[in-house]
Amino acid sequence: MAKEKVVLAYSGGLDTSCCIKWLQEKHGLDVVAVVGDVGQEHEGLEPIRQKALAAGAIACEVVDMRRQFADEYLTKALAANAMYENKYPLVSALSRPLISKHLVDGAHKHGASFIAHGCTGKGNDQVRFESSILMLDPSLKILAPVREWDLRTRPEEIEWAQEHGIPVPATKESPYSIDDNLWGRAIECGVLEDPWAEPPEDIYTMTSDPRSAPDEPEYVDVEFVRGIPKSLNGKAQGFLEVIEALNQVAGAHGFGRIDMIENRLVGVKSRECYECPAGLALVTAHRALEDLVLEREVLHYKLSIEQSWANAVYNGQWFSPLKEALDAFCASTQRCLSGVVRLKFYKGGCTVVGRKSPYSLYDHGLATYDVGDCFDHGAAKGFIELQTLSTKVWAENRREQGAPAELFDAQRAVGPLA
Ligand code: ARG
Repeated sequence: MAKEKVVLAYSGGLDTSCCIKWLQEKHGLDVVAVVGDVGQEHEGLEPIRQKALAAGAIACEVVDMRRQFADEYLTKALAANAMYENKYPLVSALSRPLISKHLVDGAHKHGASFIAHGCTGKGNDQVRFESSILMLDPSLKILAPVREWDLRTRPEEIEWAQEHGIPVPATKESPYSIDDNLWGRAIECGVLEDPWAEPPEDIYTMTSDPRSAPDEPEYVDVEFVRGIPKSLNGKAQGFLEVIEALNQVAGAHGFGRIDMIENRLVGVKSRECYECPAGLALVTAHRALEDLVLEREVLHYKLSIEQSWANAVYNGQWFSPLKEALDAFCASTQRCLSGVVRLKFYKGGCTVVGRKSPYSLYDHGLATYDVGDCFDHGAAKGFIELQTLSTKVWAENRREQGAPAELFDAQRAVGPLA
């Protein structure tokens, strides 16, 4: 009788290589490996495919997901200026739903009723994979070998791999856990687990040390059409190419490093280091254009939508109805978001130094303190009278009633803090 099949998210690393054997041995399944190219650093995709087959997979599909990642995922992240906890541009959280989609497609294509991933039980990625898969096809069953096996330490895992004929990398492996794609790179573990220890320079591969960055600044004009970057310095390009080019420029100037304590969905605070040269530069430019173009109330309201969007995606809700509705709000705000933003990269920094748009709401006549001022100064008097009327009535009432002084002094009402 033919065995049942499982589609495994395969990276080429030791964990997912052991997963192949584990799924065969412990679950009696035929394994189809799927490798997603989302723009990560790799040793060559064909060698990874060969590795999967050598470990026992009956098939291995390598899927170039880069353009789809840029056009269908990163465009939406940019529209939402997505930053989890106002700092992290969601690098890993954005790739997981896309990879999940291809895993589900693979399961349908190969007639598999199982999908497996190599995530541990401690992180966010397991939640993102499983939520995405179940939202796309609730009938699929999920296996997570790394969560179920009892190989607690690296040496135990290496021993298990050797016993099962899985080649263990001869080179001394990096002490860090890395996940990367077009939008940036996440670095965890090793010495970084001490929140007081400064990240060593060798964790970074996309950004150079700002101290050795060029001594001259570099300017880049980013042109947006309806919220999507379409050209750099006047040269029209696809979004994918824009991201790749900006990763080079911003990275060379040492821009895009993040060192933070982050609240994982599973309740753990973790120390995370990231480098997101293009991602952070594009969000910076995109926000600057929104400042110019969006009407005030829309801009302010959008800030809370952005936070909800980032939380939803961080927590694995990419395919949820909430995220779809938030996307619709953001999309509506991007209709007039066309124009150019000038960025200046210098020694680890990225500053907006110019912005222009045919839809700009900046009115020089209203803003200027110089000749040509057409703001109605007299109108401000009545505006303030009405704007303050309600609190003025309140203040008068309290005084008439002889309310105690601390009701007028918030600090005294609360008392000393320590
Ligand atoms: N903490 C980040 C997140 O949850 C990065 C995760 C990186 N994943 C990894 N397998 N190393 O999005």
